[in-house]
Amino acid sequence: MKGVILAGGLGTRLYPLTRVTNKHLLPVYNKPMIFYPIETLVKAGIDEIMVVTGGPHCGHFMSILKNGHELGIKHLEYAYQENEGGIADALSLAKDFADGDSVTVILGDNTSDADIVQSVKDFTEGALIFLKEVSDPERFGIATFDPKDSSKIINITEKPKTPDTNWAVTGVYIYDNQVFDFISQIKPSARGELEITDVNNKYVEKGQLVWSELKGYWWDAGTFDTLLEANNYWAKKANGS
Ligand code: G1P
Repeated sequence: MKGVILAGGLGTRLYPLTRVTNKHLLPVYNKPMIFYPIETLVKAGIDEIMVVTGGPHCGHFMSILKNGHELGIKHLEYAYQENEGGIADALSLAKDFADGDSVTVILGDNTSDADIVQSVKDFTEGALIFLKEVSDPERFGIATFDPKDSSKIINITEKPKTPDTNWAVTGVYIYDNQVFDFISQIKPSARGELEITDVNNKYVEKGQLVWSELKGYWWDAGTFDTLLEANNYWAKKANGS
């Protein structure tokens, strides 16, 4: 199992903060944001990691992460995403790195204390996505379940105006190597991006997508409010309250 962290984009929702560095390097309490997904992967026993980044401040990652050894990474690679092609486009850059293996993918702005060790260990094929109930489902990819079997996802809708459920697709995914074929089959969405939701729906069509609830704290820190919330959560946790 290899690990991939997607840390590209311009972070425009966080201007002017992201005029000086990449969003994923902004502080979340006492660490740069990207340390959290790295720690999630390393705790799950994944020590070969690729960071996909881009934009004007991509060089900053090297200054902070260096070769990754201080964070428990054995082998760290970087890839550069040209333009803002979306999450699936960024993931496609990890194909050679994956080299036929499965990949655990985490969005670089997702901070979580969830334990994915067992899921990574037990994974064999298909896709496993982690869901969490949210109060603002319009912001996320949202799962629709089979009315006869609520353990089965029949569709995922990206940022629905009238969501079927409150179950959001978090930015934590485990894929077998088919993911790279599926990415090559999808077309850009209305927002001009290759959507990870379309990739997940390819697995749904093949009956190869399963899900698990992400237990514990999870939030994406991509807006001022969620960044503040993430800072507060991790500060409290670090101070033992
Ligand atoms: C992305 C995905 C979405 C997912 C979310 C989790 O949204 O497209 O399906 O629910 O991450 O953070 P974006 O951050 O691109 O708006």
